[in-house]
Amino acid sequence: MTPIQAPFPGLRFRRLRRTAALRDLAQEHRLSVKDLIWPVFVTDVPGADVEVPSMPGVTRRTIDGVARAAEEAATLGIPAICLFPYTDPALKTETCEEAWNPENLSNRAVRAIKAAVPEVAVMTDVALDPYNALGHDGIVRDGVILNDETVEALVRMALAQAEAGADILGPSDMMDGRIGAMRAGLEAAGHRDVAILSYAAKYASAFYGPFRDAVGASGALKGDKKTYQMNPGNSDEALRLVARDLSEGADMVMVKPGMPYLDICARVKTAFGVPTYAYQVSGEYAMLKGAIRNGWVKDEVIVESLMAFRRAGCDGVLTY
Ligand code: PBG
Repeated sequence: MTPIQAPFPGLRFRRLRRTAALRDLAQEHRLSVKDLIWPVFVTDVPGADVEVPSMPGVTRRTIDGVARAAEEAATLGIPAICLFPYTDPALKTETCEEAWNPENLSNRAVRAIKAAVPEVAVMTDVALDPYNALGHDGIVRDGVILNDETVEALVRMALAQAEAGADILGPSDMMDGRIGAMRAGLEAAGHRDVAILSYAAKYASAFYGPFRDAVGASGALKGDKKTYQMNPGNSDEALRLVARDLSEGADMVMVKPGMPYLDICARVKTAFGVPTYAYQVSGEYAMLKGAIRNGWVKDEVIVESLMAFRRAGCDGVLTY
């Protein structure tokens, strides 16, 4: 019988786990409220400012409500808030012109936030789905999502958002060429300092379901978004998309959803070394929150899940 050996004394990893102070000293990655972007839903539809059934704990807010949320963000030290409008269904058309109305809900909310707390960065969503009677992120003709016509509409939308005072534009539509077109439009209009956080690697995901309820797009959407959002079976393609969007003038890039695509986060950060964000999307939120509410897991899973993004190399996370 071989005698039981004590570990080699130099390899006692437990030394640095013995106390909280030693664990702190040895900790490689940190998570802070400063790493967060807070997505909020805004509405002016009477009675719609209620909890989203599939996102327990998340409510749609009035314009005053989002301004108050931005004040809360400032108090907590969260640097940015990201706006998603729940638009009155009567304003949705197949041509989506409400998207670039300077007085649309999102643009009014941007102005209200900037008036209340100018120091909080406001990010807006550049995509047509909240305004599209057909629920898609692009203009649809004969069942086809038109790329170049959509890009033209997105540029108008982006300019209206920049005019309203948005600090960061978040194109989430996945049309080709939109970053370059938007950047050129912004430069020409004198909005040189507006940042673009491109949803560069956005997958066609079932994890967006609760979000589509929150913005009222679930009912309208026919079919799926697989002809423009990425195939979950691809990873090299994500690097090509990030390279493309950076070359067209994106300042920051995003991987979305988050936790199921941590490998992509890590590859993007390693390959490009640019500010890289993950979006912990509505379905991820719903899974964690649902299990916490049922008492199946402790709420510590939230910080643990966010730390995973930091470990994967993300500079920050959009999370509810
Ligand atoms: C649409 C958009 C979506 C999300 C952000 N912008 C949904 C989609 O692509 O259908 C999803 C966010 C989430 O699920 O939390 N432009």
